[in-house]
Amino acid sequence: MRRWQGDQIFFGGDYNPEQWPEETWAEDVDLMRRAGVNLVSVGIFSWALLEPAPGRYEFGWLDRVLDLLHAGGIGVDLATATASPPPWLARAHPETLPRRADGTVLWPGGRQAYCPSSPVFRDRSLALVEAIAGRYAEHPAVVMWHVSNELGCHNVHCYCDVSAEAFRTWLRDRYGDLDRLNAAWGTAFWTQRYGDWAEINPPRTAPTFANPTQQLDFLRFSSDEQRAQLRAEREVLRRLVRQPVTTNFMIGTGIKYLDYHSWAGDVDLVANDHYLTAADPRAHVNLALSADHTRGVAGGEPWLLMEHSTSAVNWQPRNVAKTPGQLRRNSLAHVARGADGVLFFQWRASRAGAEKFHSALVPHAGPDTKVFREVCQLGADLGALAEVRGSRVDADVAILFDYEAWWGVELDSHPSVDVTYSDRLAALHDALWRAGITADVVHPSTDLGRYRLVLAPTLYLVRDADADALRRFVEGGGTALVTYFSGVVDENDHIRLGGYPGAFRELLGVRTEEFFPLRAGERVRLDDGATADVWTEWLHPEGAEVLASYADGPLPGVAAVTRHAVGEGAAWYLGTRLDEAATDALVARLVAESGVRPAVPAAPGVEVVRRRDDERSWLFVINHTGDPARLSVSGVDLLTGARCDGELTVPAGEVAVIREDPAAAAA
Ligand code: GAL
Repeated sequence: MRRWQGDQIFFGGDYNPEQWPEETWAEDVDLMRRAGVNLVSVGIFSWALLEPAPGRYEFGWLDRVLDLLHAGGIGVDLATATASPPPWLARAHPETLPRRADGTVLWPGGRQAYCPSSPVFRDRSLALVEAIAGRYAEHPAVVMWHVSNELGCHNVHCYCDVSAEAFRTWLRDRYGDLDRLNAAWGTAFWTQRYGDWAEINPPRTAPTFANPTQQLDFLRFSSDEQRAQLRAEREVLRRLVRQPVTTNFMIGTGIKYLDYHSWAGDVDLVANDHYLTAADPRAHVNLALSADHTRGVAGGEPWLLMEHSTSAVNWQPRNVAKTPGQLRRNSLAHVARGADGVLFFQWRASRAGAEKFHSALVPHAGPDTKVFREVCQLGADLGALAEVRGSRVDADVAILFDYEAWWGVELDSHPSVDVTYSDRLAALHDALWRAGITADVVHPSTDLGRYRLVLAPTLYLVRDADADALRRFVEGGGTALVTYFSGVVDENDHIRLGGYPGAFRELLGVRTEEFFPLRAGERVRLDDGATADVWTEWLHPEGAEVLASYADGPLPGVAAVTRHAVGEGAAWYLGTRLDEAATDALVARLVAESGVRPAVPAAPGVEVVRRRDDERSWLFVINHTGDPARLSVSGVDLLTGARCDGELTVPAGEVAVIREDPAAAAA
């Protein structure tokens, strides 16, 4: 790992000077300095300009941009520029174009129109990386390298013949011989047995449900192919440059098909892009989930927010602008949750192209705007928070997250389409957020020893070793919650026999003999007054204590919520989809039993997160409500310089970052 933090929190965004006449560049640098910008990502979509014809490079404009930025004291996160190939590549090599499952070709004219397994794309892109890295390795402006851009955002699954061949190679590596593949894929079913590797294809559009393990392996393969591009570019960079290397992940924005837990070791720092869903009134809670997950991918280390937006985006049905103060709350919430840098897409709002209505640091209306004033304010805020960088976020709770479980649970022909992966993940994270409890979102293979409470929402697919680790965590005194449709299959998507929830049956002390999913809109009542929908199951306690049972619905009298004392700890099971109030109540019981406490108690809607290093601690207080928030805290607000002694008031919509007096830090 190469060190990436400097003496400041990074602040800036994607800078696309190639979209503007050179006269604009000097003004850009002036405005950047005014705003306190110290890092910009340059060249992300500039392949066609840097290499206008195969092998003919034109670096003059980039030389001038980097020199200008350096003269202005602005650092550069330099792109490898491979994010999207130039039109000449598809013309010369139409076989590099990606294809959908039904054979439709995806043509150039948007972006990322390349087959991720294409050797031609790989060769041409690496030649470009070699040229750029060779030229700018020693440029004093360059502080970081940015591989591609959001790898796999639009082209993660390609079903073309080149991809089919690469898929076969990947399968040979995984299984060695066809007998093992046939066993893993369960090909005795529907006469799917393969007698020759050449018979195997990606799961192209078929008359009916494709083999689920074939689908799952294709998803694994597709994530690995994108990762292979990252690794190939990184290898070139490692050889030629000394600065840290990253790429922007898309954790927590509904992007499902890239297994970032497996990619984290390929970058020197984890960087993430996050955009609010404008239609979601609780988008700031989703932001927290994304940040908590990014930190989990980063192994608890600080990470970099590579992109978010100053205001509206352009790609949602209704692109709602941010209200005054929202940009600041959003940005500082990421810092609270471990970001040591806050960057945006993009510096100056484009005049042309598909993203011309996307907000930027400098809007179309220019610097005399709410957005630019808030940008300058944020630059000053981040400057005042420099001492926080490098510190870690306090979290005693882990939520287990596995992309493969997500892929598995949402494959077709399952008991209910209403069982989705992110549903209970978000519900439990929300309940913790409301309770003021910070959680790390981590892969099930993470060492759980440092947590008191572990939640496993919808962990449908789980490996033996990971199920074992959860058992050991509970035996050692931890509290765990597993929710319905977990532990059902192994890594081949084969059912674990003997009753559900398979891998967790013993730990939970329950055995389910049959699932009873509910009809759309159907609700059931529990004997403790809670209501639930979507899912019920015929569950038998086998050692577990029953905490609540169904009062009506298809299974009156059957257990819905159970608790099993195991070793020094306890394993709770939730067999149905509780309403929000009941979920809050359940989480409150788990929090109480495990001894987890909020950083500092606060009113609903007031977000409080603590970061700490070996000597100091900082309390981030983000008031999302319309009323002043009062908390008992002592220390100094880094944003205002004001002291508080025992009582802190944070006005409606405002943020405070308190360096706590040492007594509190010892908590
Ligand atoms: C990201 C992408 C940027 C820009 C942005 C718009 O997905 O990396 O290039 O398109 O979205 O929100």
